[in-house]
Amino acid sequence: MRNRDVEELNLLEYKFLGKGNNGAVYLMPGNKAIKICNVVDSCAGEAEILEYVNGNNYFPKIYEYGGNYIVRDFVDGVCFRDYIKKNGLSEDLAEKLIELLKEFKKLKFKKQDVRCKDIYILKDGNLMIIDPKGFLNKKRNYPRHLCKGLDTFGCLEVFLEVLKKRERGLYVRWIDSLLEDREERAKEYLALMK
Ligand SMILES: Nc1ncnc2c1ncn2[C@@H]1O[C@H](COP(=O)(O)OP(=O)(O)OP(=O)(O)O)[C@@H](O)[C@H]1O
Ligand SMILES: [Mg+2]
Repeated sequence: MRNRDVEELNLLEYKFLGKGNNGAVYLMPGNKAIKICNVVDSCAGEAEILEYVNGNNYFPKIYEYGGNYIVRDFVDGVCFRDYIKKNGLSEDLAEKLIELLKEFKKLKFKKQDVRCKDIYILKDGNLMIIDPKGFLNKKRNYPRHLCKGLDTFGCLEVFLEVLKKRERGLYVRWIDSLLEDREERAKEYLALMK
């Protein structure tokens, strides 16, 4: 892994891809994306995960990490959140999500969860995670963020039906926490309406 001074980079020449709370991302030559992070520690955490999973099909390959920036593969796809908002969730896509969650287990992630906006759907239909955060240290026993996102767009039922059919063990393990959280959200919503 090679480090270089981020000042050397001609960011103005690169296409801006997007930004979040942790940094801004630009398209570099060679179909790579560079993320400039606001906080060095969060950059280190993200680089650690990308290095840990390097070569796994669900994650962009990491090429460089230098303190406040990371160079990784550009992910050319559609944001899963935008996709389900418009198209809903097909059984096929629900199965792909389940495969993704099973891969998290195989990778021995502590946090087996991901936000809908961090999943991208590639042209070939495969899924990829653009923003890996907290997978190695945040403990989570069921995919809370993912299910919350699915619920927001009316896709949770389809997901649960497919989960029950294909991975009954996971369904049984997750369903109680899942319904509790859903009830909690409904209460919060009702409180807001008062
Ligand atoms: N590898 C990539 N390929 C293509 N686009 C990307 C890539 N990484 C990030 N982006 C774009 O840049 C945006 C911001 O990236 P990212 O989500 O990693 O930032 P963040 O600051 O960590 O966000 P958050 O605050 O939500 O955690 C994404 O929403 C996406 O549009
Ligand atoms: Mg982030």
